[in-house]
Amino acid sequence: MSLVSSRLKSIRPSETKAMTARAAALKAQGHQVITLSQGEPDFDTPLNIVEAGIQAIRHGRTRYTAVAGVAPLREAIRDKLARENGLNYSIDQITVGCGAKQVVFNALFASLEPGEEVIIPAPCWVSYPDMVRLAGGDPMIVNCPEAHGFKLTPEGLEKAITSRTKWLMLNSPSNPTGAVYSETELAALADVLRRHPHVYILSDDIYEKLVYGAARFATMASAAPDLFNRTVTINGVSKTNAMTGWRVGYGAGPIELIKAINVIQGQTTSHTSSISQYAAIEAIAGDQGYVPEFKAEFEKRRNLVVERLNAAPGLSCTVPDGAFYVFANCADVLGQKTEADRVIATDTDFAMYLLEEAGVAVVPGSGFLASPYIRISYASSINDLTTACDRITAACTKLSQDKAA
Ligand SMILES: Cc1ncc(COP(=O)(O)O)c(C=O)c1O
Repeated sequence: MSLVSSRLKSIRPSETKAMTARAAALKAQGHQVITLSQGEPDFDTPLNIVEAGIQAIRHGRTRYTAVAGVAPLREAIRDKLARENGLNYSIDQITVGCGAKQVVFNALFASLEPGEEVIIPAPCWVSYPDMVRLAGGDPMIVNCPEAHGFKLTPEGLEKAITSRTKWLMLNSPSNPTGAVYSETELAALADVLRRHPHVYILSDDIYEKLVYGAARFATMASAAPDLFNRTVTINGVSKTNAMTGWRVGYGAGPIELIKAINVIQGQTTSHTSSISQYAAIEAIAGDQGYVPEFKAEFEKRRNLVVERLNAAPGLSCTVPDGAFYVFANCADVLGQKTEADRVIATDTDFAMYLLEEAGVAVVPGSGFLASPYIRISYASSINDLTTACDRITAACTKLSQDKAA
């Protein structure tokens, strides 16, 4: 009898976390590694939020809370969804979890029967397929090529739907590509979904506020109001409010699903930290003057990284409209040899080469079910990004010289 359950057999540790751990190990050995594999802002949590957390401790908000989250937080979320997204939920339709990650997992776990299918447009966030498997479902990966902006088309969606489809997972702005679906693109997907009333939509809006230039954020439940009752809208404070460690995310959707999520949460984590919940009220309802500053800084960094990588031999990238990632195509690097005579056969080989040769940690596209690409997180200082781009360019130049030789 095995100690670890068979349920875990097909589950991999996250590629993002694995690369970050490798980088940390090299750093511990004294190597100068720049880590661009992390999916978190490098900014500190804004002080008004920190202060709200401190006050929560001082005022004894340190006890168990309601499973779905404290009422003032759910009210703040309700008001935010109405004000900013035009979505009208009652507070019973809202649940708060330990990050958006737990809410996504709980929604899948609460709803999937064995063998039910979940459509996941790829490139996709590393965790989606494994969460679906853990919940007993079958991830159905739909490849969304770069030529289509890494986005799901209505035709691709129509082809992927079967009688066993339970969910379509949408993530805009996207991790790892930064792709942003316009309202018109969502409306075109909604036209397909209307013909298949058994399919629900999980909209992961965690990067909502990180949208640049002319791009505009849109979410399915408001782009297609008639699908409101078939959609769960998930969001949180991790990315926009630089609160990754506080672990607060939320979901809003059909009441029977939210109740089921609360049952799972009640039997597992109970709720996220009471202190974090009170800090999140300030994040959602308080002064957010820092958001435009974060955005402007991210946009500057994005432009730098895109320009520099497009000038590196063998790499190309389109300009991502949102989030804080650049998904660079490295097809032209494949087949080249390193100084040590090792062939770069895959994007994982390339990411390892960049880590060992250039001291830059990035995540290979294979971790997001799309190759050959590397994902670079630009949630780092301009200084680090400039040095990292210098090092990546030098490492790519070396490869192309070795190929020519
Ligand atoms: C697409 C996507 N959804 C959800 C999350 C999880 O966010 P949280 O910190 O709220 O759990 C992440 C974090 O990397 C993400 O990239």
